[in-house]
Amino acid sequence: MRHVIESQQYDVAALEKLFNNTDRILEIFQAGGNRQTFCSSCVGKHMILLFYEPSTRTRVSFQMAAHHLGMTTASTENAGEFSSAVKGETLSDTMHVICSYHPDVVVLRDKKDGSAHKAAEIADKYGVSIINAGDGKGQHPTQALLDVYTIRRELGKIEGKTVLMGGDLANGRTVRSLSYLLSKYPRMQLVFFSPPELQMGEDILEHLREHRVPFLVETRSSVLPALLSQSDVVYWTRFQKERHTTAETADKLAATFAENYSIGPAEMKFMRKLSILMHPLPRVKEISLEVDNDLRAAYFRQAQYGLYVRMAILQDMFGKK
Ligand code: NCD
Repeated sequence: MRHVIESQQYDVAALEKLFNNTDRILEIFQAGGNRQTFCSSCVGKHMILLFYEPSTRTRVSFQMAAHHLGMTTASTENAGEFSSAVKGETLSDTMHVICSYHPDVVVLRDKKDGSAHKAAEIADKYGVSIINAGDGKGQHPTQALLDVYTIRRELGKIEGKTVLMGGDLANGRTVRSLSYLLSKYPRMQLVFFSPPELQMGEDILEHLREHRVPFLVETRSSVLPALLSQSDVVYWTRFQKERHTTAETADKLAATFAENYSIGPAEMKFMRKLSILMHPLPRVKEISLEVDNDLRAAYFRQAQYGLYVRMAILQDMFGKK
């Protein structure tokens, strides 16, 4: 795979291969393996991280994944504020220049939907790979890969599961990429729970209809207990404050959201014993801290799996087959 732009690129066979390699990497770490164990597979490859939006996990886990594999990295610190974009440079000019420095891969996060695709068109001219680390309200494919891996790792399999996604589904990109990936597996049931103003995009619902994936859209907070009790995976997301243009609507929505669409100990009581609670993080207030010690709270394990999945993605791109 030259680029990773959208989650639909992966079919189930490619996912299985990636996840089996992720299992292998995780087990080497668990057995006390260190950087030496992985060295050689991607040695001599160079990664540039270009982030025009804030990031902690995605950026650091990609950087660490590269280092564990013996790659080198160069990173712009908060390109949105400190790069030449502030002076008015376009993404395509930046891409031309960055690709001319002979990296092997550019990991890009940008504010605009579709920018990873645009960047890939330029990168192709230089033989450079692009990994989309989040493009506006578009997609975040590597997050979805680690999300699906988490379900597989924690629950044993993906097919046949009921996945409840809650939160700001209109503006979050992780739930979009995740829906595309889950639609590849048989007998899935997806449930989208959000305030009416923040419902999942019609394009995703249309995709699910086309692929005959049963789904439910629910906006009434009163039915949350019932939804929780019927789900294997509860995938919660934060209110995407930065994607709302007027502060006034944002504040109003944020308040309703915090009041009616949050998970705390009371909500956990409705969840199945063998279910998991996931979140791409950062969490703001939509999952209370009291929930962290519940074994079903999988979000920190999920973030850790992100390192292993990203190592597997890089090995798939560059490593020995
Ligand atoms: C997510 C993102 O950037 O879309 N964060 C992440 O990469 N784990 C989720 C979010 O910001 O809400």
